[in-house]
Amino acid sequence: MSIPILEDAEFRTFQKIFFQEAGIDLNDKKKLLVQSRLLKQLLKYKFETYTEYLRLVQINQLEKVEMINLLTTNETYFFREMEHFEFLQKELIPTYPIHTKFRIWSAATSVGAEAYSAAMLLDTMLDKNKWEIIGTDINSDVIQKARVGLYPESWVEKIPAYLRKNYCLKGKGINEGKFLIDRCLIPNMRFEEGNLLNIPSDFGQFDLIFLRNVLIYFNDATRQKVVDGVMDHLLPGGYFFISHTENLNMINTNGLERIKTSIYRKQG
Ligand SMILES: C[S@@+](CC[C@H](N)C(=O)[O-])C[C@H]1O[C@@H](n2cnc3c(N)ncnc32)[C@H](O)[C@@H]1O
Repeated sequence: MSIPILEDAEFRTFQKIFFQEAGIDLNDKKKLLVQSRLLKQLLKYKFETYTEYLRLVQINQLEKVEMINLLTTNETYFFREMEHFEFLQKELIPTYPIHTKFRIWSAATSVGAEAYSAAMLLDTMLDKNKWEIIGTDINSDVIQKARVGLYPESWVEKIPAYLRKNYCLKGKGINEGKFLIDRCLIPNMRFEEGNLLNIPSDFGQFDLIFLRNVLIYFNDATRQKVVDGVMDHLLPGGYFFISHTENLNMINTNGLERIKTSIYRKQG
């Protein structure tokens, strides 16, 4: 069997579905990427054309979820953009008026490295009943991996040595070459599937929201919708982190004060 080729019309339909579902604009340069990421599914179902796969995606919700999982880009690592974690550790936690619990939402958490990085700091600085972290992502596979908390050993290098010593367990046997996040953090954490285009109104309120390295995938209108939606869940006076490589230039940020590059505070 020759390798199926993704035709332009088929690509446009995938673009449309992915935009509707995830809000992500796959530009025309992504055609080969889409072709190669979805090829696995064609081989799995023994389909000879992408049209056959499209038909399945259109009638089968589980396959649509699988398609979204395959098309999202989930690159992440521990303590990515260290300045945010230093700000959290040195400026935010020590001065924050702790009411009941310090609550963080890692929105678009991928496999959870961002959420666990923050958890190691909070657990070091606060009592167990004083913090909570929720990680969400549209991709159900990464959420499953985040719940497990098992990572390749090479990822551990980004974790500061004193935290590595306290929270990372070296894998043995079938987990040789991996490390596991210490289970002591798990009771304070939750990972859930969640679409930033459709945040439940009862999702709760947070003191700090990470929304990093995901806005780049959206157009301005979607960025506005996502930031507005996320802001509904930030407490007045709460903080909001985007990536250093992103900006909010083209959208309305009324009610948000820029503290420094990529760090914002909700007024009130
Ligand atoms: C590049 S990763 C960023 C991970 C982490 N925030 C970081 O900065 O390392 C982007 C994540 O956004 C997720 N994502 C994309 N569109 C989304 C949407 N509409 N709702 C929720 N998550 C989404 C992807 O599945 C992916 O895991």
